[in-house]
Amino acid sequence: MFDYDEEAERYDASRGGEARAAAAASAVLGLIPEGTVTLLDAACGTGIVTRRLAEADLDVTGADAAYGMLRRATERVPGRVVLADIRQLPFPCASFDAVSAIWLLHLLDDAEKVVAEAARVLRPGGVFVATVDKAASHDVGSDIDAVMAPRPRRAARDRSDLVASYADRHALLPAGRASFRGCGQGRAPARAAADVRRGWYTLLPPGEPLTEKLASRLEQLPGQHVPRQEPEFKLRAFRKPGPVPRPGPELGSGPLPSPTSSPGPPTDA
Ligand SMILES: C[S@@+](CC[C@H](N)C(=O)[O-])C[C@H]1O[C@@H](n2cnc3c(N)ncnc32)[C@H](O)[C@@H]1O
Repeated sequence: MFDYDEEAERYDASRGGEARAAAAASAVLGLIPEGTVTLLDAACGTGIVTRRLAEADLDVTGADAAYGMLRRATERVPGRVVLADIRQLPFPCASFDAVSAIWLLHLLDDAEKVVAEAARVLRPGGVFVATVDKAASHDVGSDIDAVMAPRPRRAARDRSDLVASYADRHALLPAGRASFRGCGQGRAPARAAADVRRGWYTLLPPGEPLTEKLASRLEQLPGQHVPRQEPEFKLRAFRKPGPVPRPGPELGSGPLPSPTSSPGPPTDA
Protein backbone atom coordinates (compact mmCIF):
# COMPACT_ATOMS: atom_id res chain seq x y z
CA MET A 1 0.00 0.00 0.00
CA PHE A 2 1.07 3.59 -0.58
CA ASP A 3 2.40 5.49 2.35
CA TYR A 4 -0.63 7.75 2.69
CA ASP A 5 1.15 9.96 5.20
CA GLU A 6 3.58 10.83 2.44
CA GLU A 7 0.90 10.86 -0.25
CA ALA A 8 -1.26 13.37 1.62
CA GLU A 9 0.54 16.38 0.14
CA ARG A 10 -0.31 15.51 -3.46
CA TYR A 11 -3.37 13.32 -2.91
CA ASP A 12 -6.22 15.69 -3.79
CA ALA A 13 -4.65 17.15 -6.91
CA SER A 14 -3.63 13.76 -8.28
CA ARG A 15 -7.02 12.08 -7.70
CA GLY A 16 -9.35 14.41 -9.54
CA GLY A 17 -9.58 17.16 -6.90
CA GLU A 18 -12.91 18.75 -5.97
CA ALA A 19 -14.64 17.68 -9.18
CA ARG A 20 -14.01 13.99 -8.41
CA ALA A 21 -15.01 14.54 -4.78
CA ALA A 22 -18.30 16.12 -5.85
CA ALA A 23 -19.03 13.21 -8.19
CA ALA A 24 -18.18 10.61 -5.52
CA ALA A 25 -20.24 12.35 -2.83
CA SER A 26 -23.21 12.69 -5.13
CA ALA A 27 -23.06 8.96 -5.95
CA VAL A 28 -22.95 8.10 -2.22
CA LEU A 29 -25.87 10.43 -1.47
CA GLY A 30 -27.91 8.78 -4.21
CA LEU A 31 -27.57 5.41 -2.45
CA ILE A 32 -28.41 6.28 1.13
CA PRO A 33 -32.04 6.35 2.19
CA GLU A 34 -33.99 9.48 2.96
CA GLY A 35 -33.95 10.04 6.68
CA THR A 36 -30.25 9.22 7.03
CA VAL A 37 -28.73 11.54 9.62
CA THR A 38 -25.44 10.09 10.84
CA LEU A 39 -22.78 8.86 8.42
CA LEU A 40 -19.34 7.42 9.03
CA ASP A 41 -16.97 8.14 6.12
CA ALA A 42 -14.59 5.20 6.54
CA ALA A 43 -11.08 5.96 5.22
CA CYS A 44 -12.01 9.59 4.78
CA GLY A 45 -8.47 10.48 3.69
CA THR A 46 -8.06 14.24 3.30
CA GLY A 47 -11.79 14.72 3.87
CA ILE A 48 -12.33 15.99 0.35
CA VAL A 49 -15.41 13.76 -0.08
CA THR A 50 -16.35 13.91 3.62
CA ARG A 51 -16.81 17.69 3.49
CA ARG A 52 -19.28 17.33 0.62
CA LEU A 53 -21.25 14.75 2.59
CA ALA A 54 -21.31 17.11 5.59
CA GLU A 55 -22.54 19.92 3.33
CA ALA A 56 -25.48 17.69 2.39
CA ASP A 57 -26.70 18.15 5.97
CA LEU A 58 -25.47 14.81 7.22
CA ASP A 59 -23.98 14.49 10.68
CA VAL A 60 -20.67 13.15 9.40
CA THR A 61 -17.75 11.47 11.14
CA GLY A 62 -14.55 10.73 9.22
CA ALA A 63 -12.09 8.01 10.20
CA ASP A 64 -8.72 7.19 8.71
CA ALA A 65 -5.52 5.44 9.75
CA ALA A 66 -3.07 7.91 8.16
CA TYR A 67 -2.28 10.93 10.28
CA GLY A 68 -1.05 12.96 7.28
CA MET A 69 -4.35 12.50 5.44
CA LEU A 70 -6.40 13.09 8.55
CA ARG A 71 -4.63 16.38 9.30
CA ARG A 72 -6.09 17.76 6.08
CA ALA A 73 -9.49 16.28 6.85
CA THR A 74 -9.46 18.13 10.18
CA GLU A 75 -9.27 21.42 8.27
CA ARG A 76 -12.27 20.44 6.13
CA VAL A 77 -14.51 18.96 8.80
CA PRO A 78 -13.16 20.30 12.10
CA GLY A 79 -13.92 18.20 15.15
CA ARG A 80 -15.47 15.43 13.09
CA VAL A 81 -12.54 13.10 12.39
CA VAL A 82 -10.86 10.30 14.30
CA LEU A 83 -7.65 8.36 13.78
CA ALA A 84 -8.78 4.74 13.51
CA ASP A 85 -8.35 1.47 11.69
CA ILE A 86 -11.60 0.77 9.87
CA ARG A 87 -11.13 -2.95 10.56
CA GLN A 88 -11.43 -2.27 14.26
CA LEU A 89 -13.61 0.77 14.71
CA PRO A 90 -13.69 2.62 18.03
CA PHE A 91 -17.49 2.97 17.97
CA PRO A 92 -20.23 0.99 19.68
CA CYS A 93 -22.59 -1.24 17.72
CA ALA A 94 -25.44 0.51 15.86
CA SER A 95 -23.86 3.99 15.98
CA PHE A 96 -24.50 5.19 12.43
CA ASP A 97 -27.30 5.38 9.87
CA ALA A 98 -24.83 4.99 7.00
CA VAL A 99 -21.20 4.06 6.38
CA SER A 100 -19.31 5.00 3.21
CA ALA A 101 -15.97 3.58 2.09
CA ILE A 102 -14.65 5.25 -1.05
CA TRP A 103 -11.52 3.67 -2.53
CA LEU A 104 -10.69 1.59 0.52
CA LEU A 105 -11.50 -2.09 -0.06
CA HIS A 106 -9.06 -2.52 -2.96
CA LEU A 107 -6.19 -1.66 -0.58
CA LEU A 108 -6.78 -4.39 1.98
CA ASP A 109 -6.01 -8.12 2.01
CA ASP A 110 -8.66 -8.48 4.69
CA ALA A 111 -11.34 -6.25 3.19
CA GLU A 112 -14.03 -8.45 4.73
CA LYS A 113 -13.16 -6.95 8.13
CA VAL A 114 -14.28 -3.54 6.82
CA VAL A 115 -17.61 -5.01 5.76
CA ALA A 116 -17.96 -6.76 9.13
CA GLU A 117 -17.26 -3.53 11.01
CA ALA A 118 -19.64 -1.55 8.81
CA ALA A 119 -22.35 -4.13 9.56
CA ARG A 120 -21.62 -3.87 13.26
CA VAL A 121 -21.71 -0.07 13.57
CA LEU A 122 -24.76 0.36 11.33
CA ARG A 123 -28.15 0.82 12.89
CA PRO A 124 -30.83 -1.60 11.66
CA GLY A 125 -32.07 -0.17 8.38
CA GLY A 126 -28.74 1.59 7.80
CA VAL A 127 -26.75 1.40 4.57
CA PHE A 128 -23.12 0.60 3.75
CA VAL A 129 -21.83 2.10 0.48
CA ALA A 130 -18.44 1.07 -0.94
CA THR A 131 -16.48 1.33 -4.14
CA VAL A 132 -15.79 -1.99 -5.87
CA ASP A 133 -13.62 -3.13 -8.79
CA LYS A 134 -11.37 -0.07 -8.41
CA ALA A 135 -8.38 -1.31 -10.43
CA ALA A 136 -10.58 -2.70 -13.20
CA SER A 137 -12.25 0.71 -13.54
CA HIS A 138 -9.00 2.14 -14.86
CA ASP A 139 -9.16 -0.22 -17.84
CA VAL A 140 -11.27 1.74 -20.27
CA GLY A 141 -10.52 -0.31 -23.39
CA SER A 142 -7.88 2.16 -24.63
CA ASP A 143 -4.70 1.51 -26.59
CA ILE A 144 -2.83 1.91 -23.29
CA ASP A 145 -4.86 -0.92 -21.77
CA ALA A 146 -4.11 -3.08 -24.82
CA VAL A 147 -0.35 -2.53 -24.33
CA MET A 148 -0.63 -3.27 -20.62
CA ALA A 149 -2.76 -6.41 -21.07
CA PRO A 150 0.16 -8.89 -20.70
CA ARG A 151 1.12 -7.56 -17.28
CA PRO A 152 0.70 -9.87 -14.30
CA ARG A 153 -2.10 -8.84 -11.97
CA ARG A 154 -2.91 -9.54 -8.40
CA ALA A 155 -6.45 -10.76 -7.71
CA ALA A 156 -8.60 -7.74 -6.91
CA ARG A 157 -9.52 -7.57 -3.25
CA ASP A 158 -12.60 -5.44 -3.95
CA ARG A 159 -14.14 -7.56 -6.72
CA SER A 160 -17.85 -6.82 -6.65
CA ASP A 161 -18.89 -10.47 -6.25
CA LEU A 162 -16.42 -10.88 -3.35
CA VAL A 163 -17.71 -7.76 -1.62
CA ALA A 164 -21.29 -8.96 -2.14
CA SER A 165 -20.36 -12.30 -0.56
CA TYR A 166 -18.81 -10.51 2.45
CA ALA A 167 -21.96 -8.44 2.80
CA ASP A 168 -24.07 -11.57 2.67
CA ARG A 169 -21.93 -13.23 5.37
CA HIS A 170 -22.51 -10.22 7.62
CA ALA A 171 -26.25 -10.14 7.00
CA LEU A 172 -26.29 -7.08 4.75
CA LEU A 173 -28.73 -7.06 1.84
CA PRO A 174 -28.03 -5.65 -1.64
CA ALA A 175 -29.45 -2.10 -1.76
CA GLY A 176 -28.31 -0.51 -4.99
CA ARG A 177 -25.52 0.39 -7.36
CA ALA A 178 -24.11 3.64 -8.69
CA SER A 179 -21.02 4.97 -10.39
CA PHE A 180 -19.06 8.17 -10.70
CA ARG A 181 -16.64 9.39 -13.30
CA GLY A 182 -13.01 10.23 -12.55
CA CYS A 183 -11.79 13.73 -13.32
CA GLY A 184 -8.40 14.18 -14.96
CA GLN A 185 -7.71 10.49 -14.28
CA GLY A 186 -7.72 9.28 -17.89
CA ARG A 187 -4.24 7.92 -18.62
CA ALA A 188 -1.88 9.39 -21.24
CA PRO A 189 0.84 7.12 -22.68
CA ALA A 190 3.85 9.22 -21.55
CA ARG A 191 2.59 9.37 -17.98
CA ALA A 192 1.66 5.68 -17.97
CA ALA A 193 5.17 4.78 -19.21
CA ALA A 194 6.75 6.86 -16.44
CA ASP A 195 4.48 5.24 -13.83
CA VAL A 196 5.39 1.76 -15.11
CA ARG A 197 9.12 2.57 -14.89
CA ARG A 198 8.64 3.95 -11.38
CA GLY A 199 7.19 0.61 -10.31
CA TRP A 200 3.72 2.01 -9.64
CA TYR A 201 2.08 -1.00 -11.23
CA THR A 202 1.93 -3.87 -8.76
CA LEU A 203 3.91 -6.94 -9.89
CA LEU A 204 5.94 -4.92 -12.43
CA PRO A 205 9.14 -4.10 -10.53
CA PRO A 206 11.35 -1.31 -11.94
CA GLY A 207 14.14 -2.58 -14.20
CA GLU A 208 12.53 -5.96 -15.01
CA PRO A 209 12.52 -6.93 -18.73
CA LEU A 210 8.68 -6.93 -18.91
CA THR A 211 8.51 -3.54 -17.17
CA GLU A 212 10.92 -2.06 -19.72
CA LYS A 213 9.15 -3.73 -22.66
CA LEU A 214 5.74 -2.37 -21.68
CA ALA A 215 7.10 1.12 -20.93
CA SER A 216 8.81 1.38 -24.30
CA ARG A 217 5.67 0.15 -26.11
CA LEU A 218 3.67 2.85 -24.32
CA GLU A 219 6.22 5.41 -25.53
CA GLN A 220 5.51 4.40 -29.11
CA LEU A 221 1.77 5.09 -28.92
CA PRO A 222 0.38 8.19 -30.68
CA GLY A 223 -0.83 11.17 -28.67
CA GLN A 224 1.76 10.75 -25.92
CA HIS A 225 0.24 13.49 -23.77
CA VAL A 226 -3.40 13.02 -24.73
CA PRO A 227 -5.40 11.51 -21.86
CA ARG A 228 -7.59 8.58 -22.80
CA GLN A 229 -11.13 8.10 -21.47
CA GLU A 230 -11.85 8.85 -17.81
CA PRO A 231 -12.43 5.81 -15.60
CA GLU A 232 -15.93 5.14 -14.26
CA PHE A 233 -15.83 4.01 -10.62
CA LYS A 234 -18.48 1.64 -9.30
CA LEU A 235 -20.31 1.68 -6.00
CA ARG A 236 -22.42 -0.96 -4.31
CA ALA A 237 -24.81 -0.40 -1.42
CA PHE A 238 -25.91 -2.94 1.21
CA ARG A 239 -28.61 -2.51 3.83
CA LYS A 240 -28.75 -3.86 7.34
CA PRO A 241 -32.21 -5.38 7.80
CA GLY A 242 -34.54 -3.23 9.87
CA PRO A 243 -36.57 -0.05 9.57
CA VAL A 244 -35.19 2.75 7.41
CA PRO A 245 -33.67 5.41 9.71
CA ARG A 246 -35.88 8.41 10.43
CA PRO A 247 -34.60 11.76 11.65
CA GLY A 248 -35.52 12.33 15.27
CA PRO A 249 -34.61 14.71 18.07
CA GLU A 250 -32.03 12.27 19.40
CA LEU A 251 -30.15 12.20 16.08
CA GLY A 252 -28.10 14.79 14.28
CA SER A 253 -27.55 17.23 17.10
CA GLY A 254 -25.51 15.14 19.50
CA PRO A 255 -21.77 14.84 19.91
CA LEU A 256 -19.56 12.40 18.01
CA PRO A 257 -20.41 8.79 18.98
CA SER A 258 -18.06 8.10 21.85
CA PRO A 259 -15.14 5.90 20.87
CA THR A 260 -14.87 2.64 22.76
CA SER A 261 -11.51 1.25 23.76
CA SER A 262 -12.15 -1.96 21.89
CA PRO A 263 -14.60 -2.92 19.18
CA GLY A 264 -17.82 -4.64 20.15
CA PRO A 265 -18.69 -8.11 18.93
CA PRO A 266 -19.43 -8.54 15.26
CA THR A 267 -23.11 -8.77 14.41
CA ASP A 268 -22.78 -12.39 13.34
CA ALA A 269 -21.04 -13.51 16.54
C1 LIG B 1 -7.35 6.08 -1.86
S1 LIG B 1 -7.53 6.89 -0.31
C2 LIG B 1 -9.25 7.31 -0.31
C3 LIG B 1 -9.58 8.50 0.58
C4 LIG B 1 -10.99 9.02 0.48
N1 LIG B 1 -11.98 8.01 0.76
C5 LIG B 1 -11.24 9.63 -0.88
O1 LIG B 1 -12.03 9.09 -1.64
O2 LIG B 1 -10.63 10.66 -1.17
C6 LIG B 1 -7.44 5.52 0.79
C7 LIG B 1 -7.45 5.92 2.26
O3 LIG B 1 -7.65 4.75 3.03
C8 LIG B 1 -6.90 4.87 4.21
N2 LIG B 1 -6.76 3.54 4.79
C9 LIG B 1 -6.18 2.45 4.25
N3 LIG B 1 -6.31 1.40 5.07
C10 LIG B 1 -6.99 1.83 6.15
C11 LIG B 1 -7.43 1.21 7.34
N4 LIG B 1 -7.22 -0.09 7.58
N5 LIG B 1 -8.09 1.96 8.26
C12 LIG B 1 -8.30 3.27 8.04
N6 LIG B 1 -7.92 3.92 6.92
C13 LIG B 1 -7.26 3.21 5.99
C14 LIG B 1 -5.62 5.53 3.77
O4 LIG B 1 -4.93 6.13 4.86
C15 LIG B 1 -6.15 6.56 2.77
O5 LIG B 1 -6.44 7.78 3.37
